[in-house]
Amino acid sequence: MSQIIMGIETSCDETGVGLVRLSADSGEPRVELLADEVASSVELHARYGGVVPEVASRAHLEAMAPTARRALATAGLSLSDVDAIAVTAGPGLAGSLLVGVAAAKAYAAALDVPLYGVNHLAGHVAVDTLEDGPLPKPCLALLVSGGHTQLLRVDDVATKITELGSTVDDAAGEAYDKVARIVGLPYPGGPPIDKAAREGDPAAIAFPRGMTGPRDAPFDFSFSGLKTSVARWIEAAERQGEPIPVNDVCASFQEAVADVLTMKAVAAAQEYGIGTMVISGGVAANSRLSALARERCEAAGIELRVPRPRLCTDNGAMIAALGAHVVAADLPTSPLDFSANPALPVSTVTVR
Ligand code: KG4
Ligand code: ZN
Repeated sequence: MSQIIMGIETSCDETGVGLVRLSADSGEPRVELLADEVASSVELHARYGGVVPEVASRAHLEAMAPTARRALATAGLSLSDVDAIAVTAGPGLAGSLLVGVAAAKAYAAALDVPLYGVNHLAGHVAVDTLEDGPLPKPCLALLVSGGHTQLLRVDDVATKITELGSTVDDAAGEAYDKVARIVGLPYPGGPPIDKAAREGDPAAIAFPRGMTGPRDAPFDFSFSGLKTSVARWIEAAERQGEPIPVNDVCASFQEAVADVLTMKAVAAAQEYGIGTMVISGGVAANSRLSALARERCEAAGIELRVPRPRLCTDNGAMIAALGAHVVAADLPTSPLDFSANPALPVSTVTVR
């Protein structure tokens, strides 16, 4: 027997609708990706150098129904084929979440199918099952994006996720976006910095590794000091009238970020005796982060799983995949009057 799950994601600037097929005849549930449609409002925010919440909500409102129609068309399905709806209940921008949650409630009520409000962060982990199959229990997840930087222990993606550490200030992707602005590269800063860094020397400038002191929390991160160091370094070079070696600055900054993220993730896996690591979120697309993670995981005997970049950034497929695991686990549905929660903790995978 199989079921079609629709996933709706609107927590930030991507309107995503995904469709998956859940087959749960015997043993581990199988989840197959049927469609993954995303409408991004990133260009509308580019000139502000960051996401403008009101602009994002309006864009979601315009994109919601067309994106759902496109997903159904891609999968060759109609609305009546949908057996359950999952939607991001949080964390995220309040106004943006509201659009997806309202749409999900309308679809669920109109189709008379179960509704599940689910956690966006858990979705970033669940998406990996679309590519690499069932997740070993437990596994360690490193989530790195413009909005989050977290180390999670995942005992069961549908029911038991524990935060081991998170950023105390900027998210990793936010640091990329801010440093890009400082060196004069466009928003979002990750891809252009990644490109510039390929031509630079990662050892040119010794930027600080935040939160790695003996008295710091072992699995928390801090990137705001690093961003300030880059700004100070550029100011000093400008005062001396020297040309700015943008490629070297980008490579050295990127090295500092990748070094801290992989060092702490591997240390957490070792501390908790976990043999599999999943890296997800927009920054997982970073070439140096994945290369260094591969190197260090291999040396430590840890299996590394990184979903393809398209699935790492925000999308509806990740919410559909999580929805499928929630359905397979036979968890209670969310009531039609549940609320979006911009600060939903990662330990709450489904909202009741
Ligand atoms: O997951 P995502 O699409 O959205 C959320 O923030 O939830 O992540 C976007 C972030 C941006 O900050 C962007 O600069 C960063 O991911 N990013 C990268 C790369 N591609 C995207 N950072 C480093 N290297 C990349 N190649
Ligand atoms: Zn995200």
